[in-house]
Amino acid sequence: MDIRSPVKKYNQEHLLRFWDELSDDQKSSLTHDLETINWDRFEEWSNYCVSADLTTPGLGDEFQPAPYYPVDPTDSELKKLYAQAINKGKELIRAGKVAAFTVAGGQGTRLGFDHPKGMLPISPIKNKSLFQLFAESILRFSELYGTKIRWYIMTSDENDEETKDYIRKCKNFGLEEDQIYFLVQGKMPAFDLNGNLILKSKWQIAKAPDGHGGSLNALKLSGALADMEQNGVDYISYFQIDNPLVTIIDPLFIGLHVLTQSDMSSKSIPKTGPEEKMGVFCKSGEKVGIVEYSDLPDELAVKTDKNGKLKFISGSPAIHIIDRNFVERLNQNKFQLPYHKALKKIPGITNLEMENAPDQPNGIKLETFVFDALPLTNKTIILESVRDQEFAPVKNKSGVDSVDSARQMMIAEHVRWINAIIPPEQAESVDLKNSTVEISPKFYVTIDDLINSNIADEKIVESFKDNVAYIP
Ligand code: UTP
Repeated sequence: MDIRSPVKKYNQEHLLRFWDELSDDQKSSLTHDLETINWDRFEEWSNYCVSADLTTPGLGDEFQPAPYYPVDPTDSELKKLYAQAINKGKELIRAGKVAAFTVAGGQGTRLGFDHPKGMLPISPIKNKSLFQLFAESILRFSELYGTKIRWYIMTSDENDEETKDYIRKCKNFGLEEDQIYFLVQGKMPAFDLNGNLILKSKWQIAKAPDGHGGSLNALKLSGALADMEQNGVDYISYFQIDNPLVTIIDPLFIGLHVLTQSDMSSKSIPKTGPEEKMGVFCKSGEKVGIVEYSDLPDELAVKTDKNGKLKFISGSPAIHIIDRNFVERLNQNKFQLPYHKALKKIPGITNLEMENAPDQPNGIKLETFVFDALPLTNKTIILESVRDQEFAPVKNKSGVDSVDSARQMMIAEHVRWINAIIPPEQAESVDLKNSTVEISPKFYVTIDDLINSNIADEKIVESFKDNVAYIP
């Protein structure tokens, strides 16, 4: 491909302005970067970047709240269905049909941590990293179900090497080497505010990971789907690296997904209020999907029912079960999820000078979101979940959705577990309200796991020293 031709056609000649001073290696690097841009779509992307358009998630704009399965079923039919679902889910997990899938390719710009987010120390006492907590959970779930649960981890070019090095150096936290499968997601070029490409250096184009929606392409392109098929995996338990509270293998959720013949299912949690920045589940005609908080008209966001409850209450904690066959089908039909744009600070060359840390957002990243696949399903269901037990996002350095807030939620959840097993008179000898508690997922991965373990009360109480207890 003659790279000069699209560069000229689309007025991107600024990308070649340092060409004459580049070494041969640098020239090939720039050539490669330019060749791997999908120029057929350049105009569409560039126009979208400068337009005022928001993406439409393929849902139309006549939104209704989406129906969901409640967390506590009251009617007997539903109770029966849930009991069947739990059995079905357990059977599938035991049979090795379910894999864990973590998306960890994000840049974590808000957190400002200098390594892949999964390496962030997070557990309240032992400072275990997010990767370690998930690895230990997989170990324990594998043990409980007498199987070897496979773990697929999506990284991006920027953090792939460091992620792999870290996990391997930690000896896979006890998992077997062939239990983990790494895949790298795709990239999208970044644009400046005029819709032009940006030079990251004199010989590199600024690119960024293509969003968690890129996972649905990457699963296919990387060979992960084929690997799943080979290993008998039919269901993908999808979660994000930055939620230490998520139950990564949930028999009820898996069973319900399968019994209802859903292609892709989601958990939901109630929004804390109309202003919470969280995508909400909506229905439009027969289609169900998630509408970003910024795309939901204000008058709908604040609407309440006759009991004063928010009408659009179901928020998305980004937890899904996805059928392997559904991802296969999407890829056969050359699907493309819609792009969403994000205004960002993008280091690059402006006015012939390299600017490493622009103080204002100076460019646009285009990302796809995994939940935009929901309207492409033939069937999708939503299962309500309890926020405090399932969602502790780690997004920011401090304040809301930060390391601190996630730790507090982890402690509160583990205090709840302990409260469930120690009798009140024992509980009095420790000040649970003011204690810091951490329960190792390697040994007890759910509240039921702890309850079923019959761990002696005295042993729990003995673990408390100065109101701090690590329960291994
Ligand atoms: P976020 O949308 O919160 O993005 O990702 P982020 O990159 O982690 O953080 P900011 O916005 O730069 O501060 C939610 C989840 O999706 C993954 C992230 O790793 C996280 O688990 N993700 C996001 C990807 O895997 N790839 C992407 O391109 C974007």
